Amino acid sequence: MILSELDHPIIQAPLAGGPSTPELTAAVGGAGGLGFLAAGYQTAPAMRAEIRQLRQLSSAPFGVNLLVPGPAAVADHRLTTYLERLQVEAHRYRVEVGNADFDDDEWGPKLTVLHRERVPVISFTFGCPPSEVIDSLHDTGAEVWVTVTDLAEAHAAAGAGADVLILQGIEAGGHRASFVDRDRVEGLGILVLLRLVAAEIDLPLVAAGGLADGPAIAAVLAAGARAAQLGTAFMRAPEAGTDPAHREALAEEEPTALTRAFTGRLARGIVNRFMLQHSDAAPIAYPQVNKATAPIRAAARERGDADGFNLWAGQAHMLAKELPAAEIVRGLSEDARAALEKISTRRAER
Ligand SMILES: Cc1cc2nc3c(=O)[nH]c(=O)nc-3n(C[C@H](O)[C@H](O)[C@H](O)COP(=O)(O)O)c2cc1C
Repeated sequence: MILSELDHPIIQAPLAGGPSTPELTAAVGGAGGLGFLAAGYQTAPAMRAEIRQLRQLSSAPFGVNLLVPGPAAVADHRLTTYLERLQVEAHRYRVEVGNADFDDDEWGPKLTVLHRERVPVISFTFGCPPSEVIDSLHDTGAEVWVTVTDLAEAHAAAGAGADVLILQGIEAGGHRASFVDRDRVEGLGILVLLRLVAAEIDLPLVAAGGLADGPAIAAVLAAGARAAQLGTAFMRAPEAGTDPAHREALAEEEPTALTRAFTGRLARGIVNRFMLQHSDAAPIAYPQVNKATAPIRAAARERGDADGFNLWAGQAHMLAKELPAAEIVRGLSEDARAALEKISTRRAER
């Protein structure tokens, strides 16, 4: 179990769409945490190239994260209307709306690469693979971790044979990991989710969502997590591939909100113009909307226009520090230990 071998109970979340790099994963692993590569939106050969590049940079254990494809969606009038609405944005940034076809993010080819590359940890998000897939990855020596957002998903993942559950609270930056993207879901905070799952399921738990400093990590460790998985806290590190305008926004005291405007799947980001103008109209249609907005978002990034692309961020983004990733890992771990010691000293003094 890799969690028992880490020097620090800190995991760098997979950060698809730019921020994840082999350099970031290597720096976190080198410092005694666990880094993840994000295979989402990549081709299978690009994923394999990143795994090989990482192995050149570091011999530390690492993980690769895959996004589980949903069922192929049927055509929906809300999607058609939304694609028409996006024409205004396409015009603004002088691009065409992207091709909104469904695809499975190269699920089969990526699994084939992972079987061959013998990766230490494979995590899944947006669903739980069938137990045959989990068994076959176990046969390669991999640990299989599954991301969940409520108790029912936790039971399903445990039943399918997951080794570790990553619990994602509503505070988290980026996409909600829910197996099915729905409206009117409760959206549990990380402490509630952790305690509900710990009370019923006897698997190692990793906590994620809005954790960006040592005391917050101490809180989830005290509540039963074996480690904390942080995304936003690593996005200002120089090793991360975060876009410059996104980096600047992370440092500001701006609110975050959940939206489907950019991708057709619920995700948390810093509130900006695009989000305010389109969230109410955005349908549940992932990955179609993600592909449709891709040229618009790329053009906005190119212009340095933080109002035109997704500024994914967790609720505690103001606490993210601009420091090398290894320093972030060591600093968080020291501060978490100090916070736990402070509590036990206070109790001993009574
Ligand atoms: C830019 C960005 C990209 C993300 N990409 C992925 C991903 O590819 N796979 C995944 O499982 N989670 C992804 N997440 C979610 C993280 O795994 C994690 O749940 C989240 O970062 C935790 O909240 P925090 O950002 O407040 O630390 C992403 C988060 C962000 C901010």
